Amino acid sequence: MQAVKESESEMTKEHLIIFDTTLRDGEQSPGAAMTQSEKLRIAKMLEKMRVDIIEAGFATSSVGDFEAVKAIAEAVKESTVCSLARADEADIERAAEALRPARSSRIHTFIATSPIHMTYKLKASPEQVLEQAVRSVKKARQYTDDVEFSLEDASRSEFDFMCRVIEATINAGATTINVPDTTGYGEPGEYGGTIGRLIQTVPNSDKAIFSVHCHNDLGMAVANSLAGVLQGARQVECAINGLGERAGNAALEEIIMAVRTRADIYPVETRLDPTLIVPTSRLVASITGFPVQPNKAIVGANAFAHESGIHQDGVIKYRETYEIMKAQDVGWHTNKLVLGKLSGRAAVRARYEELGIQFDSREELNEVFVRFKELADKKREIFDEDLQALVKVVQESESAERYQLESLEVTSKTGGTPVAQLRIIIDGQTQETCAEGDGPVDACFKAIEKVVASGTTLQLYSVNAITSGTDSLGEVTVRLEKGGRIVNGNGADTDIIIASAKAYMNALNLMLSDVSKTHPQMAVGV
Ligand code: KIV
Ligand code: ZN
Repeated sequence: MQAVKESESEMTKEHLIIFDTTLRDGEQSPGAAMTQSEKLRIAKMLEKMRVDIIEAGFATSSVGDFEAVKAIAEAVKESTVCSLARADEADIERAAEALRPARSSRIHTFIATSPIHMTYKLKASPEQVLEQAVRSVKKARQYTDDVEFSLEDASRSEFDFMCRVIEATINAGATTINVPDTTGYGEPGEYGGTIGRLIQTVPNSDKAIFSVHCHNDLGMAVANSLAGVLQGARQVECAINGLGERAGNAALEEIIMAVRTRADIYPVETRLDPTLIVPTSRLVASITGFPVQPNKAIVGANAFAHESGIHQDGVIKYRETYEIMKAQDVGWHTNKLVLGKLSGRAAVRARYEELGIQFDSREELNEVFVRFKELADKKREIFDEDLQALVKVVQESESAERYQLESLEVTSKTGGTPVAQLRIIIDGQTQETCAEGDGPVDACFKAIEKVVASGTTLQLYSVNAITSGTDSLGEVTVRLEKGGRIVNGNGADTDIIIASAKAYMNALNLMLSDVSKTHPQMAVGV
């Protein structure tokens, strides 16, 4: 232990920039689409956590994405706000426009540099790609001094070509060079080695920060990112809970805690407040409807639970026998009882503020407070997670949704067939429906489908207790698919059958919303 401390103190620490992409790459996970107000809530939490750069979205993707980037640019003051833009003039102009209100802004532009992407996706020669990259960086520099350039599919690109593109884009004004492992193909030794070699070989590499952006297709996103850091990368792109395209991005919480816990190995430090890791993870899980697996590092429910007798004995005698981090340091024990039946409106609002949640209007706070009192009548102890779930319930009830649940009655008994009777409001008209099912939840969904006939397929149904205890709010996620489009609906209630019906209706409403979005990895003309 002593030796570790000495080597740590000898090491001069450099700043590691944390670039969070939960709202951009994270949102590209099928079914993780978020509304503007949800994105704002997450952005404010990331700012509170002291994330250096928040990639707020891909402004060109849709009007909704543009507005969300703009709203985040207006609201966030302590972090740099970034928009993605393909290497295309119109994309860059749109990103710049959305970012105009930001106190500090970054444009992140990219183009693919691997032979496979250039040949089949871009149908462009390496020379054309290089020219387009340089033109785009110059264009972005007209709007901000902070320009990031990414070589998409870098881990499958030719080394010499990457060196040429990097040198030219730095000369054109790029201040950050990102080397993404877009397909999650990289391996730590190889990927880290590439980062080190690029830094050594590119003549003007000292004029830019090198960045890593790793996908988790082989489960190596965090290992690859950290290997890059050891070889000189000073920015890591990552997402809360490892959210992201396909198998996800490197998990922010794992990067932060690896760098802190193994400070003897990593010559860097971040400015993040780790005590906000668990609350932020919860917020993202509840908004996206992507629950965190119990054995997930740092933020999984079992990450600090000591199940086996031997471990418990060891931990009680001396905590460090089995624990390398403290649960409190990542915010587990901020999950304390905060409020109860007798708590007043000011206490509720103050706790929400501590959680990074502010209300758009007095009416919204009133509505949340009414729901809080209802919940406190059913449930003695109100935790932070309950408060977060309540906001979601209120915001959903406020939005003019086509399908709404009015009432629900389910009968279920041993040896009998469960029956669900529901009253649903469709376009303002109440309709009654009833169905039997292979269980109460199945009966509910069948009854809803009898009147809605959505043509969707149920892909996932999951129930999560938000806090411990049988009186906990149950949070249900329902994933529906139709014609290749996937949505995740959520519902919370102390009654999990009601939560399930709400989640199903929420998914149906999301299926109806207009979300024609341009995917950033769709080619633009070169
Ligand atoms: O994975 C990737 O290559 C990306 C780029 C757009 C940076 O997300
Ligand atoms: Zn990515």
